Amino acid sequence: MTNEIQQGKPFSGEETQQIVEQFNRDGYYFLGEIFTSEETATLKELMEQKHNDPCMHDEAGDHIRGISMMRMFEYHKVYRDLIVREPYVSLAEAILGEDCHMMSQNAIRYLPGQGGGWHSDDKLHFPLPDDVPRHDPRIPLPCFVINVLIPLIDIETIDDGPTQVVPGSHYSGRRPPAEENPIFEGKGPVSFFTKAGGAYMFNSQVWHRGTPNSNQIRYIAAFTYSQRIIAQRLYPFIDYRMPEHVFDGADERLQRLLGRHEKGAFG
Ligand SMILES: [Fe+2]
Repeated sequence: MTNEIQQGKPFSGEETQQIVEQFNRDGYYFLGEIFTSEETATLKELMEQKHNDPCMHDEAGDHIRGISMMRMFEYHKVYRDLIVREPYVSLAEAILGEDCHMMSQNAIRYLPGQGGGWHSDDKLHFPLPDDVPRHDPRIPLPCFVINVLIPLIDIETIDDGPTQVVPGSHYSGRRPPAEENPIFEGKGPVSFFTKAGGAYMFNSQVWHRGTPNSNQIRYIAAFTYSQRIIAQRLYPFIDYRMPEHVFDGADERLQRLLGRHEKGAFG
């Protein structure tokens, strides 16, 4: 098992600008395979190790909640270091601002047959009344929250349970309709097919789902970045204290992403 996560390489300024424009328009960006098979195996093994530890199932600790394995940065340094992995950390900063932070870091472990219905996460950020069909595409909507997902198994067919998104649907101003294949402005779902260790990111307001997988446990390393103005969601919230070991050897950028901010508006 490797104990290191490679740093990766950020995109050039020009590439970043092009990706940010595409992300803002489509609501997602597919990064392709960015993790080595060794890293991927480690991330999967750590998920399984955590899942097999009876202490992690103690409800008060909130280490595992249904399919979600909470606060993986606490569990192992390899997961903590994913937070500053390139190229997606620089993309997140380009979209959310240089003072953004990790809002949560929950790996997802689906048993065969499990999946999720179509949804956008949390509250609608820019809801519209029924008589307004969509947000004006000429107006760039700020993105507040980005999910980054990294499947740790090959997801190459629809039966493997790919994540799906509906392009542009963050401009809809509404929840997805209750349909198997929701369509927004003529565009239906896009499936993220990838070998283990691929990565993709999407605006939390985009309509998305995890398609039910048929035959294997689906392991997804996942985490969320948000603008600083969106609070971190680390249970039990005001009573949460990040364990000291999480800061071991963490540089300034990682500390900020963990929530150690400079003074700013309101505080
Ligand atoms: Fe979601």
